[in-house]
Amino acid sequence: MRRPEGRGAEGSGGPGPHRGVHTPGRASIAARHLRTDRWWVPQTATLVALLAFIGYSTWRAFDGADYYSAPYVSPFYSPCLAANCARIPGGADLAVFGDWWRLSPALIVLIFPLGFRLTCYYYRKAYYRAFWSSPPACAVAEPHARYSGETRFPLILQNIHRYFFYIAVIFAVILTYDVALSFRDSHGQWGHAGLGTLILLVNVGLIWAYTASCHSCRHIIGGRMRHFSKHPVRYRMWGWVSKLNARHMLLAWCSLASIAVSDLYVYLLASGAFSDPRFF
Ligand code: FES
Repeated sequence: MRRPEGRGAEGSGGPGPHRGVHTPGRASIAARHLRTDRWWVPQTATLVALLAFIGYSTWRAFDGADYYSAPYVSPFYSPCLAANCARIPGGADLAVFGDWWRLSPALIVLIFPLGFRLTCYYYRKAYYRAFWSSPPACAVAEPHARYSGETRFPLILQNIHRYFFYIAVIFAVILTYDVALSFRDSHGQWGHAGLGTLILLVNVGLIWAYTASCHSCRHIIGGRMRHFSKHPVRYRMWGWVSKLNARHMLLAWCSLASIAVSDLYVYLLASGAFSDPRFF
């Protein structure tokens, strides 16, 4: 996704009509684009879906309530690191933020999964197109006069994605632990499974799949090797994550939706809207 400044970029900053796709040396085409299909449909759908998620997650992140209904905890609030989430059993033990923290505990943790998704190669493409029209679509010129790719501040910060990946693995482990705890009933007895258990299980499976399909993960596992034959384990793992990597976009959307559904389910239970159907 990181694109160096090329000839178009160098010539795109000047004033007047000779900029962007009108830079001297490029084909002279008067039309803004030559596409005849409905190229704007995917971008519009992306815009609507991301705005819906941003709206919902912002409300829930600042809500600071109804994030726990035994034995389920919302993925928006895990790990709960503030003293004001002591209502979760064991929550007070994890509290690295004391009583002075008055805001919603979700605001402490959401910055990390948010950073992981914001810097994701797929989401970058999606929101560059949907929100900034940069570019709006393949073979459709962007309306901006200047273009510097991701070579300057602030977009150069996108390159810290690999470090967010390491943190995302830690979060996936924590959410897996939460799912394990959801096999206990509200009294702490093992052997319980309800609809919430199933929803959290599917959610953590999608989160692991999305995380493992990350481009950085694929490079960490299989990059910088001269001979796959000398690293058979890494080669096999690289093959697995490559298959997931081919579905990264699908996994990005499915895991995003499952996080929202998981949180909504816990919210509805915690707010008393209905009871959790129990399988055994
Ligand atoms: Fe999408 Fe890493 S590239 S999560």
